[in-house]
Amino acid sequence: RLELRCERDGAGSAELRLDGHPTLAVSRAALLPPPGGPEDAAEQELPVESRPFASYGSALHITLPQAPRAGQLLTLLIDYEAGEGPGVCWLSPEQTAGKQKPYMYTQGQAVLNRSFFPCFDTPSAKFTYSATVKVPEGFMAVMSATSWEKQKDNTFVFKMSQPIPSYLIALVVGDIVSADVGPRSRVWAEPCLIEAAKKEYDGVIEEFLVVGEKLFGPYVWGRYDILFMPPSFPFGGMENPCLTFVTPCLLAGDRSLVDVIIHEISHSWFGNLVTNATWGEFWLNEGFTMYAQRRISTVVYGLPYTCLEAATGRALLRQHMDATGEDHPLNKLRVVIEPGLWGVNPDDTYNETPYEKGYCFVSYLAHLVGNQSTFDAFLQAYVNRFKFQSITADDALEFFLEYFPELKEKGVDSIPGLEFDHWLDTPGWPPYLPDLSPGEQLMRPADELAELWAADALNMEAIEAVDITGWRTYQLVYFLDQVLQKSPLPEGNVKRLSKMYPKISKAQNAELRLRWCQIVLKNNLEAEYSKVKDFLHSQGKQKYTLPLYRAMWGSSEATRALAMETFSATAPQLHVNVRNYVKKILGLKGAE
Ligand code: BES
Ligand code: ZN
Repeated sequence: RLELRCERDGAGSAELRLDGHPTLAVSRAALLPPPGGPEDAAEQELPVESRPFASYGSALHITLPQAPRAGQLLTLLIDYEAGEGPGVCWLSPEQTAGKQKPYMYTQGQAVLNRSFFPCFDTPSAKFTYSATVKVPEGFMAVMSATSWEKQKDNTFVFKMSQPIPSYLIALVVGDIVSADVGPRSRVWAEPCLIEAAKKEYDGVIEEFLVVGEKLFGPYVWGRYDILFMPPSFPFGGMENPCLTFVTPCLLAGDRSLVDVIIHEISHSWFGNLVTNATWGEFWLNEGFTMYAQRRISTVVYGLPYTCLEAATGRALLRQHMDATGEDHPLNKLRVVIEPGLWGVNPDDTYNETPYEKGYCFVSYLAHLVGNQSTFDAFLQAYVNRFKFQSITADDALEFFLEYFPELKEKGVDSIPGLEFDHWLDTPGWPPYLPDLSPGEQLMRPADELAELWAADALNMEAIEAVDITGWRTYQLVYFLDQVLQKSPLPEGNVKRLSKMYPKISKAQNAELRLRWCQIVLKNNLEAEYSKVKDFLHSQGKQKYTLPLYRAMWGSSEATRALAMETFSATAPQLHVNVRNYVKKILGLKGAE
């Protein structure tokens, strides 16, 4: 049931166009009689037709009895069935952690919810929603909603009372249970994971929320809960309002991957309150969120640690640009997305550029302001100005210049080489990098150790003098990124490194496993190829899966064979988008 208000008189058009998908079977559309009309007024059936639109969806054309006028309210009923679409994932029991019961979840971002329900599937439109969900006995349903209630007959009723864009509607049905971890937070997980989930985050979530509120203003979503997804969930985290979805890889046992939670919490202001109006300006969501994440992290964990984490982010951006070429059109902050068949698929803009180049741009704005608390105040004013709205980069930057008239006066938007439009429209490496030297004390030992391991003749005395047992996960990640950058190392070095640091080569932590697998592949360490295979069998996160397939494909005959073998075994459990990206890397037919 869609309740619509006509904003402007159209050009006499009586056609309503919604987003849909070939897997979304619409059987009927009808117009409800306007409120206040005669009691017995009947629904009016409407012609509806699904037409091709793009590779990622179709257009539902619904013909209204007449062209609506500005201000007019319309209530439509649409009967439909959602099937095996990309936004709706149906997992067999074997694809869950517990392997007992099936599981279903939805993933809307960027343009997948059009295969879940017919809607205006654009981040520029915001609305409230409610849902009644009936599930089989023994299952639980949860949604991204501000309130929920269980009624009889396994029926759940959800309401989201704040306006949100379509991509933030999310549903999970499965064998899941919950445990409290804070005054407004609980974790959800399959029963076999709930202990670990509670242990990982008990008592730590509230502090992030409190710091976020202090920096960016009120948290408007009521609860902040976390749902641990099955291993094939393609993202580290997804900021579904009130209920962040995360990969079970975060269950490292030592809270070391909590930056993902801080990131998703930061979306409560940047992305979920102030939203990019188009997916071509995805950096407005992710760049501001990276900045907010690192502000919270700085307050909670200090500047050195946060700079270290940011340095690992910069390494990811470097790797990404090296892999795609700096000039790649998707390495711009502002990507042009034409509608329809020839346009970019909005989901293809998911790469390191909007995150880390976006972070650099926001850091550059802070640098122009020159004072951290003044810039924090600006961020809070920005959220307050644009909350519950969808905006463009021009809106954001215009507000920045209005907020700082002396900067506008100085013409900071047109400093040669650093023009705001240059930032937005030129692909490539950021023209300004924030100073990460406060992290030096943590990075230097890692840099030096990587240097030692890259030598032709290993200086084992110097290597053994470095004690890494006390290093934090991100210090090890940073070290491994340096080793990877210097790889292939001289013959035999990686083998010795592997022996020397079982903490790294036998790590269970997913961020460490990713780096170790990358090093194994770049150094052709055949003895450990099975680790790559095991890691890809254990989880299906896109940012772990694609770099490893790229590395396997680009290396040797043996690694190509490994890629093919691993893919044919794991393809059924990968998210369909990830599966298609891997197919593309492996040059397999049938990639959409
Ligand atoms: N909103 C994103 C995930 C996303 C992006 C889903 C594009 C679909 C399309 C989420 O907030 C995110 O950025 N997750 C990161 C976390 C990291 C940057 C800490 C991830 O999954 O790696
Ligand atoms: Zn994000």
